[in-house]
This record gives sequence, structure tokens and C-alpha cells, in this order.
Amino acid sequence: MSDKDLVDLSWDDFDEHRDPRPENNGFDAVVERAISRRGFLGGALAFGSGAAVFGTGLFSSTTAARADGHAHFAFKPIATATDAAVHVPEGYQSQVLVRWGDALWSEADGAYNGETGVGVDMSDKVFGENTDGMELFDVDGKEVIAVNSEYVNPKINLPAASEGVPQTADEVQLLKNLQGVTVMEIARGDNGYAVVKDSPLNRRITHETEMVLEGPLAGHALVQTNADPSGTKVKGTMNNCGSGRTLWDTYLTCEENFNGYFGATGEMPEGEGYKRYGIGGEGRYAYEKFDERYDISKEPNEPHRHGFITEIDPTDPTSTPKKRTALGRFKHENASMAHAKDGRVVVYMGDDERGEYLYKFVSAGTWTEGTYGGDLLNEGTLYAAKFNDDQSGEWLALTPETTGMDAADILCFTRMAASAVGATTMDRPEWVATNPVKVESYCALTNNKNRGVKPNAGGDDTSVNAVNPRETNHYGQIVRWTPADENHAAEAFTWDLYVMAGNPTVYDNEYAGSDNVNEGNMFNSPDGMVFDSTGMLWIQTDGNYKNEGDFAGMGNNQMLVGDPETGEIARFMTVPYGAEVTGLCWNLDKTVAFVGVQHPKGQWPDGEGKPRSSVVAVWREDGAKIG
Ligand code: FEO
Ligand code: CA
Ligand code: CA
Repeated sequence: MSDKDLVDLSWDDFDEHRDPRPENNGFDAVVERAISRRGFLGGALAFGSGAAVFGTGLFSSTTAARADGHAHFAFKPIATATDAAVHVPEGYQSQVLVRWGDALWSEADGAYNGETGVGVDMSDKVFGENTDGMELFDVDGKEVIAVNSEYVNPKINLPAASEGVPQTADEVQLLKNLQGVTVMEIARGDNGYAVVKDSPLNRRITHETEMVLEGPLAGHALVQTNADPSGTKVKGTMNNCGSGRTLWDTYLTCEENFNGYFGATGEMPEGEGYKRYGIGGEGRYAYEKFDERYDISKEPNEPHRHGFITEIDPTDPTSTPKKRTALGRFKHENASMAHAKDGRVVVYMGDDERGEYLYKFVSAGTWTEGTYGGDLLNEGTLYAAKFNDDQSGEWLALTPETTGMDAADILCFTRMAASAVGATTMDRPEWVATNPVKVESYCALTNNKNRGVKPNAGGDDTSVNAVNPRETNHYGQIVRWTPADENHAAEAFTWDLYVMAGNPTVYDNEYAGSDNVNEGNMFNSPDGMVFDSTGMLWIQTDGNYKNEGDFAGMGNNQMLVGDPETGEIARFMTVPYGAEVTGLCWNLDKTVAFVGVQHPKGQWPDGEGKPRSSVVAVWREDGAKIG
């Protein structure tokens, strides 16, 4: 595959390109084995696996529905859409808050051009491309959003002749500057919310921003480079996907597909870790040809300095972001922090790759409401989840004793540590969300075309299991768990599936989805997931939007609201054809939601020029709270 085709792949397909599945996958044999081992799969084959889980607990909550037996959605659910517009329910309005290329400072006014995009000189003074996770903070009464720009589309940003492959160091610099994090003050005026240009709180954080490694891996030989022999000072954060926030109101940005930025112009360094993380060969964007930092034949340790959760103080634009190595290194999707009964802080985290794991970190120290948590995320224990078929589960500690690896290796090659303890391979863990009104957390398992077909990158078994019950799972499901003793720090939990996405108009087996999926609310590939303050679960999709075949009737990507108590799910919003919905936060009085629209196609939202990833504000016409 040529470089110019490489940049068009989804990250999931890029993984496949690096590590293709065998032509003959032995699929039937895998299914046979799963059936006989598990025993409860009857004539309906794998459907029984879902049914077994549901029958014993999944929808027990459905019968214990809210007082009148129904969810209290404050909106009339909307139909699917296949057009190039944003749709919200009757009585709601939406408008773009900020687009890729919009100036954050006056000096960048006019930096975006509909023909050529943004020039390198202003590329770190504008809102970045491909908006993703975001959180809103109250900074002395000012409303400040911290928001990720996950990646760039080189074909949109570079001259057409380059076909998406950078030809100069400046072009690489441009792409690097349009990623990372934006911190921006917003304010409500006569025409709704807008970015406060030139606010002293505005900040861009890119591949070039100075940051520090914190926690047990800081200074270790594994993270030392020619440019930083101390192994403590890192340039930049990359592929910032989902978000999180600490209980003390700092921003957590999550470094996901960092592997794709590295390549080797010469000899590959030795080490199992490169393969497990999909690092090697040619980088996805040719950065290694123009910047040695991304060339692992010259800087073999640079990739060990990325793939972390990075903490940013949104109140101080001069603060140094801190990479929290104690939370492990993998393709971090997002981070959901909970306060354990005993005062410790817990961070739930997914590793978004087929057959990788769900993790949690439990701090050594404790936190008291109203205080600053400081460096609480530097010391604690990392765990990987094991889901048993009987709906019990356990968090397996990743320690030198349990893994046979030393403490630094566990944090640098966390995937290998989770494999060593026999954690459960999952169907691409995307966002994790913790219910603010009940002691439970959820994880979106977006899809996994290799479930039951091919082991993960570490060779671990990916046969169906009760929590990932469908082979070649292209619809996805959402799992939730309740920690023992209502304590998020507990090692035991029970779990059930909140929903199995599917298409009941195409299938009458397990691919139809669970009972709370119907023709009126079907969707595929749950990805973003955020609880509002009332305990309703907002679900965003990043899936197949072709509206045909297995996905017929699902339309464009969408945002739905789920009631955890009744199991009901209703469609709230659809986004333009081609885009995914990602990132969600609310203003301080909860009357406006901010929603991310990533990688639109065509000429949305301007109706001319290039497609521009944007954050959209959504509110009710009567001004009532919506979250
Ligand atoms: Fe960046 Fe897994 O989504
Ligand atoms: Ca995602
Ligand atoms: Ca996704």
C-alpha cells in the first residue's frame, strides 16, 4: 500500500494493515470450540451467549423501571438521517461554536482559507482539526473548554499534488500543530456562545509543547533519548482521543494511536514491545523522514514516551502538562475518575484496539473533597479486568509478582503485563463513564471484526466470551459493572451488558441486538460516552454510516441518550454524512451542550471550501436544562 493510501485508513484498518489477519481464519473451528466449552449455546448458536447473560441479570433493571415504567426523556426522539446536516429534536436548536482553523488569537484572523486550509505560520494559533474529547471548567466564573484535536487529514491540509503525504519539514510541522489540545475561554453573547478571542486563558498544546514525565517510569532508561538523556522532559502529546477530568478539576487528555506517528528509516530496534504496540516499518504520515524524533531506527525510546494519560491545568496557560506514567502505556481512549469509598481515587481506562484490555488505576493516597489532588496520580496500583461468564469479575493487579515483569516494564509495556495475568480480551474498549448518581461504570466496546477470528497483537485468545459474545462483532456493545461493596477500589465486581447494538430489521439472531434496540433507535459502534449530572448516559457513535446491508436503516452517526434504570435508549442527534460524533460537555448552568463533529465530508459546515471538524452548541428553545 502506498503512503497516500495509508493516510486514508481508519485507525482500526491501519492496525489491520500492520498486522493482517490470516486468509484462512479457522472461524468455524473457533465457534465450535466456544460452543462446546461454554455449554449454554443452544440451537440459536451464539445468540444463546447473549441470552444467557441477559436472562440472568441484564434486564433485571428493566423490570425495576422508574415509577411509571418508562424513561423520562425530555425530548421526542428523532429519525435517522443520511444528509449533510446536524439534526436535533423538535424544540432544540444547534449552531457551530468553533471550527478547525478558527482563530484563537486576533493575529490568526483569516488564517483559514477555503482553498488552501491553514498555513504553517498560524497553525498553532487556530482551533485544531478533528475535535474529540472535551471538558468544561469553571475558572473563576469564566467558562473554559479543554478539547482534543485527535489527528489531521493530510489530504485536506496539504496541497493536492502531495496526495496527503508531507513533502517538507514545514508540512510535517503544519500537521503536528493542528493536533493536540486547545484550551479556550467561551462566553455567551447575543448570538449564543462564542470563543473569547485573545483570552489570557487560551492555549494550544501540540506535538511541540514541553511536558514532563511523572511517576515511576520518569527517568528510566526505557524513556531516555538523545535529546533528553534525563528521561524526564518530553516534547508534546499526540493523537489525543477521549478526555477525562480529575476530581480536582484538571483536564486529562488521552494519547491513543500514538504508534502510527513513528517509523523506521533504517534498522528496526529489537524488542517485543514494538510489535505489540504496532510500531515499525513506515509511519503513517512520513514524519520520520523529516523529524528524527519519530524515526525509531535513530530514537528507539521516543515511542516509549507517548501513549499515556496527560494531566493539564486549564487554569494556568503557563503550566507544564504532566504525563502520568503510573496509569500505564497503551492506546488510551479516555479516562473516567471515581472516588472510592475509602478516599482513594480510581481511574477507569480502555485500550482501543481489537482484543486489548480494560484497566483501572487505584491511587496509593487519598483525596478529600474540595482539595487539590496534586500528584496523586503518580503512585498506585494498575489493574486489568477479568470478566467471568457467570457475570462476576475481578480486577487483576499488575505487579512484578503477578506478571513476572519489573515495575518499569509493566508501565511501559502494560499490554504485555495484562496478557501475563490473563485479563479478558475485549471488543475495542472505547470510552468509560462513571454514573454520578449510582456506584457503577460503563465501557463502550465499539466493535471487533476479529472476535473469534484472530488473536490480539500479543497472541492472546479472542474466542467469544460472555462479555464479548459475538463473532466478527461489527455492531458493538456496552458493558457496565458494579464494584463490590459499592467501593470503586474493590477488586471484585459484578457486570452485565447494558446494550448489544444490532439491526433487528436485518437479523433475528444475536446480530439483531438486545431487547432495548429496535427499528426506532438502532445504531452501531458506540464510542463516546458521557454521563450527565442527572445520571443519564449519552452515547455517541463512530460506525458504519453507509445505511445499507447490515447497517441499513441506521443512517449517519448519531448521539443517543440511555436511561440506566429502564434500559431505554432514544436518538437525540444525528451528524452529517461521514462524520462521527465525539466529545460532549455542558456549560455551567447545563442549558447548553457542546458536541464534537469529527471528520465531516463535503463542505460542512460552511457550504463552501473544505469540510471542517467543529464543536456544535445545542440548547432547548425554552432555555431549560439539558444535562
Ligand atoms: Fe480515538 Fe478509539 O477513538
Ligand atoms: Ca473514540
Ligand atoms: Ca472509534
